[in-house]
Amino acid sequence: MKILILGSGGREHAIAWALAKSPRAEALFVAPGNGGTEGITLANGQRARNVSLDPQDADAVIAFAKDAGVELVVIGAEAPLVAGVADELRAAGLKVYGPNAAEAQLEGSKDHAKKFMDDNGIPTAAYRTFTDEASALAYVREHGAPVVVKADGLAAGKGVVVAETVEDAEEAVRACFGGAFGSAGATVVIEECMRGPECSMLSFVTGGKSFAMAPSQDHKRAFDGDTGPNTGGMGVYSPVPIVTDEEMAAMTDIMAHAAAAVPDYRGTLYGGFMLTSEGPKIVEFNVRFGDPETQVVLPRLESDLVDIMEAVADGRPEDVQMDWSDQWAVCVVLASDGYPGAYEKGRVILGVDDAEAMDGITVFHAGTARNADDELITAGGRVLNVVAMADTFEEARNRAYEACDVIQFEGKQLRRDIGLKALIGRTSWE
Ligand code: AMP
Ligand code: GLY
Repeated sequence: MKILILGSGGREHAIAWALAKSPRAEALFVAPGNGGTEGITLANGQRARNVSLDPQDADAVIAFAKDAGVELVVIGAEAPLVAGVADELRAAGLKVYGPNAAEAQLEGSKDHAKKFMDDNGIPTAAYRTFTDEASALAYVREHGAPVVVKADGLAAGKGVVVAETVEDAEEAVRACFGGAFGSAGATVVIEECMRGPECSMLSFVTGGKSFAMAPSQDHKRAFDGDTGPNTGGMGVYSPVPIVTDEEMAAMTDIMAHAAAAVPDYRGTLYGGFMLTSEGPKIVEFNVRFGDPETQVVLPRLESDLVDIMEAVADGRPEDVQMDWSDQWAVCVVLASDGYPGAYEKGRVILGVDDAEAMDGITVFHAGTARNADDELITAGGRVLNVVAMADTFEEARNRAYEACDVIQFEGKQLRRDIGLKALIGRTSWE
């Protein structure tokens, strides 16, 4: 099968890498891809190829896919899904992994997602929606802090403020209505603040059925000890030892419940959970694989991802089969200094091959490219994902950090405490 993956992050590298392991992968294209996706070797010895295409440009994607004989298109990120690229590709007769625009509203509009959860009895924080600043300000003053202020639309992970004071909440409300997030902030959702550890559960969803993948835990803040600004994610591990069997069952059940309410959904549904004292509750749904969650979840999947993605795209839940490795996976993100703010690009990266030669190490690229001299250079905020697999959590964590030290580029920024929470245990950090 010839497969096209749309995207350029660590998530898309991990998806391409997992698909390439299948004997059924005949050719792989990644559009636009990154400095790592081009080098992926398929089971048949072929190399994956980067294609210079904009994932939002459905016409260009269709033209390329038809010309190259692509049989399955996997859409990586939320923006093309919310924009309806999956709908257009399907209308052109292509097989697509990823939901249509109507279902993608679960991520595209927080107000829609909250209504969906209320309508389907899915546990989540209590909320109110506002379309004018004065009513929103009056509400936060009356409600008091802590309270969570969210821009309704897509804001690249920056549209959420967990306000510990009424003043911070007021400022967040003013920022949204003042246009800080463009039209995404014209509607504002204000939520009750939940407390507890967070856990991500990604699920293959098709034909109204959910196939929950192994759980993982992201580290969203930029610096050690969960300090600094929110980022796309600085590290992650799987499985999550602090989750109890009861919580696992409740999360799996919630995902099944959500899947049953979207019978036309064909793709990954991502449940972002908070493990509250009242049980797991949804913080947010995403309509795609998580980044960096995918980088630890897919390496633990032992089944053929081509089979699974094709069955999901076809709407054949009876053919989705998953086996999971017992190994632990830890991923540490190497970022450019300054990220998530402004950062330099074009710095030469050394040592990736040496790191990959180490036991249990895979390096997934994110913001990398090749310069005119074919040197690997930095090209984004999150640069590389160093993933270690091992039989114990400690070993996986140690291996990941040893490999991180072998890779060098000017301004390399990383968290040194990825996975420490899992080692310390739950009650000590909640
Ligand atoms: P989101 O972009 O919706 O994932 O939100 C980003 C982060 O804000 C989440 O990962 C949580 O850490 C935090 N957050 C969002 N909603 C709430 C809530 N209702 N209570 C507490 N924290 C929240
Ligand atoms: N790592 C968080 C996300 O993918 O949304």
